[in-house]
Amino acid sequence: MDRDRPIGIFDSGVGGLSILRALRAELPAEDFVYFSDAGHAPYGEREESFVSDRSLAIAVDLLEQHRIKSLVIACNTATAAAVHLVRARHIHLPVIGVEPALKPAAALTKTGHVAVLATRGTLASAKFKALQDALRGQAEFVLVPCDGLAAAIENDDQPQVRTLCARYTKEVCCFGSGPGEIDTLVMGCTHYPFAADVFRELLGPEVQLVETGVPVARQARRLLEAQGLLNPAGSGQVRWQTTGDEQALRAAAARWLGL
Ligand code: DGL
Repeated sequence: MDRDRPIGIFDSGVGGLSILRALRAELPAEDFVYFSDAGHAPYGEREESFVSDRSLAIAVDLLEQHRIKSLVIACNTATAAAVHLVRARHIHLPVIGVEPALKPAAALTKTGHVAVLATRGTLASAKFKALQDALRGQAEFVLVPCDGLAAAIENDDQPQVRTLCARYTKEVCCFGSGPGEIDTLVMGCTHYPFAADVFRELLGPEVQLVETGVPVARQARRLLEAQGLLNPAGSGQVRWQTTGDEQALRAAAARWLGL
């Protein structure tokens, strides 16, 4: 049966685990295949054509090797570069992308000022520009490209994660809950939720941190349900595939998901 097949999910590395965590909570009986493209990371500082070529190749790989029933692009940079291309190439495959959580942030902010931390590629994309334009007048967004931060998280280089989080949040003036201050931070790259503790420590409890895992998981449920593809009786298994270091991926899965 089609619905017994696994859901494919990919990212440039371990960032997509923040989305997989939410997917497993929402859909505990589904089986997943997680593809980490760490051998070609980071995506965020590469040409858009490189990221779209990788995304198209990974979609084919997951379809051919694992017969996936749907695909979650658990990477903001790859979604911006390629979600439309993957959908056009595989018209029968339900494809779910992610985007920086500007809409939830606009609804949450009390001061009307929001900081968006994401990769250079995401912030430079036409898709991100359209998202920001659609929210014009609802909030002021300060955009911060965070070169190196996804790589530091990927390599579990904690001193570098701390240095970069401090540098990039310092670039934004000013966090706080007073008039004109920024009270909401969008973690617009799927790696960044793994630095949430560092952001929280740097910014204090007044600043709300927003990520996309939960809304993406709900969207995946809706899409699978609508297509009769929900699997209520799977084993909740995750299989792993990577172009990088398999041990590092397994260590990250154990650390962040207890798998
Ligand atoms: N995790 C990815 C994202 O959400 C990209 C990180 C990278 O490879 O630069 O944008």
